[in-house]
Amino acid sequence: MPLVSMRQVLDEAAKGGYGVGAFNVNNMEQIQAIMEAARETKSPVIVQASRGARAYAQDRYLTHLMQAAVELYPEIPVVMHLDHGNSVATCKSAIEQGFTSVMMDGSLTEDGKTPSSFEYNVKVTREIVQIAHAKGVTVEGEIGCLGGIEDGHGAGLDGLSHLTDPDQAVEFVKQTGLDALAIAIGTSHGAYKFTSKPTGETLKMNRLIEIHNKLPNVHLVMHGSSSVPKDLQDVINQYGGKLRPTWGVPVEEIQLGIKNGVRKVNVDTDNRLAITGAIRKVFAETPEKFDPRDYMKPAREAMKKVVALRMTQFGQAGHAADYQPLPLSEIAKRYN
Ligand code: G3H
Ligand code: 13P
Ligand code: ZN
Repeated sequence: MPLVSMRQVLDEAAKGGYGVGAFNVNNMEQIQAIMEAARETKSPVIVQASRGARAYAQDRYLTHLMQAAVELYPEIPVVMHLDHGNSVATCKSAIEQGFTSVMMDGSLTEDGKTPSSFEYNVKVTREIVQIAHAKGVTVEGEIGCLGGIEDGHGAGLDGLSHLTDPDQAVEFVKQTGLDALAIAIGTSHGAYKFTSKPTGETLKMNRLIEIHNKLPNVHLVMHGSSSVPKDLQDVINQYGGKLRPTWGVPVEEIQLGIKNGVRKVNVDTDNRLAITGAIRKVFAETPEKFDPRDYMKPAREAMKKVVALRMTQFGQAGHAADYQPLPLSEIAKRYN
């Protein structure tokens, strides 16, 4: 099965009333962890690479690793998505490399830091929609700005200063024709999201529900959805790490989001924590070891466990064989 359209995967998720985790990757072990979790749970998957990941791994390595994944796991529908494309050029190059879905994040200007204007956002997103849809490639856009900052991407805001305005979201969807809409409801990227357990008030779940009521047929995307579990923090700190106390997005809040139109759930930090904890443990307990496989294997296994758990919690588990993925050429015809 070749890489598939994210639009098809999200349409199916909407029909089935479940969410699909979108997990970030930078290397072979992370891709392997996701694919093993997908096989174990029989889940369709979205594998995503950021600009930083593309620079770190090189597009050719990434796309060939993804080709290996689809060959080795023919029963799993796999989307390859560009996370936070900062410009039309970045999205275009991802499409040329074979990504089947791109995020044009025009909520920030090209520097990936400065909140942009609505007009700029519409212009760049619409441009990518035209280019992508002609090839059957899916487009995610963003309205409102997330908090936090990751690898130079993000406005470094507190997560609450640029929440998505529901009426503007309606206008944005109308003017761009995108497939999936990332919204800002108080989440942020990275490990340090909240200083205490967030409630439905801290996270603006009512705002999400309002947006869903106005746009019932639009696939919503929740970025910054790591739950930053205490047990993963503890392993890191137990073996010499220095994480400050922190809270992420509770899984119950994500599940409430999924009941209200969230179809794509972005998770990176939880996997980073799992990998780092596993590696620290090997280093601390067996300092004589120096074969990378001795620590990369437990790291990959720890990430697989987190991903499999999220797949079950988001509801995508068991849905890999529900439908026959269509070739992108067929999807392209549907956009006409
Ligand atoms: O957007 C945030 C993701 O966690 C990707 O992070 O840009 O450091 O690869 P990155
Ligand atoms: P986390 O940092 O919460 O994992 O968010 C990842 C993300 O939104 C990637 O786009
Ligand atoms: Zn994000």
